[in-house]
Amino acid sequence: MRASKLCFLLLSVLAVAVLGAELVCEGDQCEPPPHVPATFTLNDGNTMPRVGYGTAGLGESVTMNVLTALKAGFRHIDSAQAYEWYNERGVGAALLKASEEGEVIFIRTPRKCIPRDSIFVTSKLHPRDFGARTRKQFHESLHDLQTDYVDLFLLHYAECWSGLHCPGEPGTWQEAWAALGALQAEGKIRSLGVSNFNPDDLRALIAAAQRGDAPMPAVVQNWFDPLHRDAEIRAICAAHNITYVSYSTLGTQHPGRGGNPVLTNPVIKAIAARQGTSPARVVLSWALQSGVGVLPRAGRAAHVEDNAQLLTGGGGDALAVFLSAADMAAIDALAT
Ligand SMILES: NC(=O)c1ccc[n+]([C@@H]2O[C@H](COP(=O)([O-])OP(=O)(O)OC[C@H]3O[C@@H](n4cnc5c(N)ncnc54)[C@H](OP(=O)(O)O)[C@@H]3O)[C@@H](O)[C@H]2O)c1
Repeated sequence: MRASKLCFLLLSVLAVAVLGAELVCEGDQCEPPPHVPATFTLNDGNTMPRVGYGTAGLGESVTMNVLTALKAGFRHIDSAQAYEWYNERGVGAALLKASEEGEVIFIRTPRKCIPRDSIFVTSKLHPRDFGARTRKQFHESLHDLQTDYVDLFLLHYAECWSGLHCPGEPGTWQEAWAALGALQAEGKIRSLGVSNFNPDDLRALIAAAQRGDAPMPAVVQNWFDPLHRDAEIRAICAAHNITYVSYSTLGTQHPGRGGNPVLTNPVIKAIAARQGTSPARVVLSWALQSGVGVLPRAGRAAHVEDNAQLLTGGGGDALAVFLSAADMAAIDALAT
């Protein structure tokens, strides 16, 4: 054994002695398993589960799907006002129906319930409602989601674009952010964040927060997968202690490339085959080990249940399937 390998092994053993974890070995390479806490602590002091259930594009089945997710153990549900893709009413109906069935319980039946504060509900403001309509529209979200507050509320986009229908003349994201800040001060929103902001807009928001003119965002939710790293935004987040959460982590944002290039990637498939698991599990574990939150959406109950087990391997605070440093590096090398 070369001196460097022996040194690595000794350091690993030392880490295990200190951290109390078992070594994981592949050939003569041994490493302590990565520690991935079940929750993030946000820069505003609130906590957020690292794994959430995504509800975009589930159509009429969203109510049934959210029920399945809650029953499987998800405690973070991601929604939005954009009825182009989401259905807040469907999510709210699921939460209410669950309480009526007495299986998974939400806010309104305290005797049988999972406490409201153990479910993290995220939603997003549509840019057509920036400005004068922001406050009213936020209260529509509360109504549709059947709750008195949301844990995280995001500006969905900094502005309208061809995929988001914006009749009339909406206000600016700065006006919307000020309105959300007031709702946060009133206790209606626990944490604030943005989604799909470009680097310049995100820097402008952070600068305003640093001047004391606006709340600092706690979360950025953006597209991130093994082939799309969003490096500039992630660096800004890291520099300002803003938690980064990924969407479409399983490769659904790659149009016109002949199917899903993430789940069919040969490197990812080879790691999955060697580990006896699925490419989806490898990708989600890779994201979590990279320090990124995930919001996998799944219509099939088997996928929902699989994804709910991502962080239950070590009693809720460890990855059930995790990647060696070499496998992490192999996926990292797929894109810059
Ligand atoms: N902020 C934004 O602008 C924005 C944009 C896009 C998405 N999002 C959020 O992020 C969430 C996730 O992104 P997404 O909806 O684009 O899709 P995604 O989670 O990246 O991928 C969903 C696809 O992966 C499959 N899948 C899920 N778990 C699997 C597993 N364990 N094994 C194999 N396949 C699995 C699903 O199959 P089945 O359906 O067959 O189970 C589905 O086809 C959204 O639902 C939404 O909440 C936010």
